[in-house]
Amino acid sequence: MTARASTTWAVILAAGSGTRMGGDRPKQFLTLDGAPLFWRSAETFSHIPDLAGIVFVFPPAMLDESARMVEELTASRPLGLPWLTTAGGERRQDSVANGLAALPKECGRVLIHDSARPFFSAGLATRLIDALDEETPAAIPAVAVTDTIKECESGCVTRTLDRSRLVSVQTPQAFLRDVLEAAHALAVEKSLQATDDASLVEALGRPVAIVDGEQANVKITNPEDVRLLQKEAAMIP
Ligand code: CTP
Ligand code: MG
Repeated sequence: MTARASTTWAVILAAGSGTRMGGDRPKQFLTLDGAPLFWRSAETFSHIPDLAGIVFVFPPAMLDESARMVEELTASRPLGLPWLTTAGGERRQDSVANGLAALPKECGRVLIHDSARPFFSAGLATRLIDALDEETPAAIPAVAVTDTIKECESGCVTRTLDRSRLVSVQTPQAFLRDVLEAAHALAVEKSLQATDDASLVEALGRPVAIVDGEQANVKITNPEDVRLLQKEAAMIP
C-alpha cells in the first residue's frame, strides 16, 4: 500500500443554503444537542479508529464565522483529529470538488458526507471504508424502498416502477480518492450534474458497491422533518 493510500479523510458538506427548509440560517446550523447540526457528523466520524482527519465545507459567506465555530467547539468537545475548513460552491458537486481539493496529499480514501444526515453510525462508515479496494473504488449505503414509486408528468402518473429493483441511497459514501477525482474531472469535462458522488463514478464506468444503510440515517430537508425529529431528538430550530 502506498503512503497516499494509507489515510482516510472525511469531507462534511455544510455549504448548502437550505432553501427547502427556509429560516434565517442554513439548516446545518440548526442546534442539535447544544451544537450546530453539522457537528454531530464530525463527532461520529471521530469515533472511527482509522480516520485521519476531517474537511468541513462551509458557505463562502460564512466561512470565517463557521471556522471560528469549529475552533470553539473543539475547545470544549475535542475531536482528537486534525480538521480543515474550505468554502463550498454553487452546487453540491462543486462543494465536493472544493472539499477534494483541500485534502492533504497522503489521503488515499475519502468519505463524502451530507451534514444534513446527522444520525449515521460510526459502524456504517467503517463498513463503507472496509468495502473499498482497487476493483471496487466506491461504496455507498442504501436501504430498500418501502413506498411505491411512480413516474409522473403534469400531475398524472405515466409509469409505476418495479420497487424490488430500487434502493434509496444515503451518505456517507466512500471512495478511493483518485477515482473520485477522476469522476469529478469527467463531470467538468462532460457537464454532468449529479445529486450524489457515486453517480459520477458510475458515469466513469467503475463499480459502486452497495452496503446496508441505516433507517435512522434520514436526511433533514423540510421543516416537517425537524418537527418530527423534535419529538424524538430534542432538536431546537
Ligand atoms: N450542500 C453543499 N453545497 C451546496 C449544496 C448542498 O455543501 N452547494 C450540502 C448541504 O449542506 C447538505 C447536502 O449537501 O448537507 C445535501 O444537500 P441538500 O439536502 O439539498 O441541502 P441544501 O442544498 O442546503 O438544501 P436545499 O436543496 O433545500 O437548498
Ligand atoms: Mg440542495
